Amino acid sequence: MALFFRGQAFAQPTSASVASPEEAVVLFFDLTEKGGMEYRATYEGEQILLSSHLGFESRGGHNLKDGFHIVGTTYNAIDETWTQPWGTNKTNRNHCNEMAVNLENQDGTKLTLRFRVFDDGFGFCYEYDVPVTDSLLITDELTTFHLAEDGTCWSIVANYESYEFLYRTMPISKLDNASTPMTFKTQTGVYGSIHEAALVNFPEMALYPTDRPLEFKSTLAPWPDGIKARFKGGKFTTSWRTCQLAQEAVGLINSSLILNLNEPCKLKGDLSWIRPMKYVGVWWGMHLGINTWKMDERHGATTESAKRYIDFAAANNIDAVLFEGWNEGWESWGGMQQFDFTKPYADFDIDEILRYAASKNVAFISHHETGGNILNYERQLSHTYQWLHNLSIHSVKTGYAGGLPDGHNHHGQFNVLHYQRVVDTAAKYHVTLDVHEPIKPTGLCRTYPNLMTGEGARGMEWNAWSEGNPPEHHEIIPFTRLLAGPMDYTPGTFDILFEKTRNLPQRQAWNGNDKGNSRVNTTLAKQLANWVILYSPLQMASDLIEHYEGHPAFQFFRDFNPDCDWSKALAGEIGQYVVIVRKAGADYFLGASTNEEARTVSIPLDFLEKGRKYKATIYADAPDADWKTNPTAYTITTRKVSSKQKLTIKMAQGGGQAISFSPIK
Ligand code: NOJ
Ligand code: CA
Repeated sequence: MALFFRGQAFAQPTSASVASPEEAVVLFFDLTEKGGMEYRATYEGEQILLSSHLGFESRGGHNLKDGFHIVGTTYNAIDETWTQPWGTNKTNRNHCNEMAVNLENQDGTKLTLRFRVFDDGFGFCYEYDVPVTDSLLITDELTTFHLAEDGTCWSIVANYESYEFLYRTMPISKLDNASTPMTFKTQTGVYGSIHEAALVNFPEMALYPTDRPLEFKSTLAPWPDGIKARFKGGKFTTSWRTCQLAQEAVGLINSSLILNLNEPCKLKGDLSWIRPMKYVGVWWGMHLGINTWKMDERHGATTESAKRYIDFAAANNIDAVLFEGWNEGWESWGGMQQFDFTKPYADFDIDEILRYAASKNVAFISHHETGGNILNYERQLSHTYQWLHNLSIHSVKTGYAGGLPDGHNHHGQFNVLHYQRVVDTAAKYHVTLDVHEPIKPTGLCRTYPNLMTGEGARGMEWNAWSEGNPPEHHEIIPFTRLLAGPMDYTPGTFDILFEKTRNLPQRQAWNGNDKGNSRVNTTLAKQLANWVILYSPLQMASDLIEHYEGHPAFQFFRDFNPDCDWSKALAGEIGQYVVIVRKAGADYFLGASTNEEARTVSIPLDFLEKGRKYKATIYADAPDADWKTNPTAYTITTRKVSSKQKLTIKMAQGGGQAISFSPIK
């Protein structure tokens, strides 16, 4: 009675709002009559999101969705500059306004809804404190994103096991499900992308349409028993639900919103063991079906091949070599694998290889394919990373190709916690990670910079044994998957048509997708451009090293510096073309690429340092190049340029261009 009386007397507020620093984005929070929660947003004065729902459902009668009143609202202006050991930009500005709405309902559920509103989008997360004594079982998330307008969207299907799908371009109104980042362009020309940030102890969010047109609801990856998330006690914080907004497509790429919503670096002390690297690897031969991971007469990772790759790396200004199929367990591939992560195969003399690599100043990237058997991996985790530490190995590529035990899926809370345990263990032993079949990146690399890169989309491997990735794939992923974080796509296959390997007698199809007619669906110049465009601090030259012989174009990779300081997407349209420049030391590297259409773009060089002359080395599609019929024809020219000039970049169908700029002393 007293409560009721107090509510009447002070007419508690039922709404609150917050604008971004330049007021480009305004976010409104509203309570419904029943004390349910909603939000909406405007961008540049126009509705971008209509009233959208908030809240959760739980098992056991705990009310997490309505009956709320606002206890208080606090505001906080954030403007800070922070740096990271590597990244598309080493220095970032976190400039936003925060609104924390503190709520409570008649069941005693306390909730802080924390909104952060930037000029290029917003994010919000839920901080619940539910009066339970034992545990809390979340059965559904009610968050929706209710777009105000139709338009076009780019996404892969929602799937709790994999992200390795081709992108679909379709009207927003036709979207029947999506994994995030789900990127869109409205009819009035606003670009946006819905994703999440800082996913640590929660299942992933996918999007499904609701009954209301253009509204998409968060659907969480479940545990095997259907529960979405479980917590000991009643306190939990969700990952941030994010919506990037921009006037131009490249504005999505040039945003650091996802990183800004992650916590600062938690790794302490000297982080010099975390460094960007270029690498080659014993890898493509396996995917082509020429070599095997397991030890037989076609074994890829032998002492002899290891030394050959190390020699090549040392001779070509390449920092590291990746070795796959070096450890015991590949015989059980396809079943519930029992890999041993500290037992090299008998023909892989790891001590000798490490000695040889060290003598040539080449780093060793190890490989842990779990096959999805995370229980087997977790059993070995500590002693394996201790073993790596003892051997001074600072870099591991992990893999989760295969189903998980006990009906778990790859993207549920159970496995999200596993991925994080590996990040923590690796950090403890000074090891960086390149995670294949990962949980999608959500900017955690800011907090744990040893989480350097990962896959989480269709990468180069699909070109080895399937219909491949179509040309437009490379103009879609910079605006979708790569908004989430770096990708180990592994560009750089020069034997585009597999002319040198297709008919080798030892070649055997090893993968059900292999119809024997695979190829890479780009020109060679576009492969070079992708080293710049498809950002990864660990950047691979994917092809067999012998295929780089006789190719002057490989000089681009020799010169390329993966340790960039600053990046800018200069031009592009989703699925059509993209131009990105990165600065590393005093040099700049530019990559431009196009889909199936030939294209010419004019790019002002005003990103170059003023008053300085640069030697531009231009790797272009030859005039008669074409991804289908003549993919390997390219030209190399040099020019003296300055920031006052413009360059005309001409790209063939499915082509691209790569340019390195070095200052003239
Ligand atoms: C899939 C990974 O993406 C690929 O890079 C790796 O070679 C295989 N799994 C085997 O681990
Ligand atoms: Ca993969």
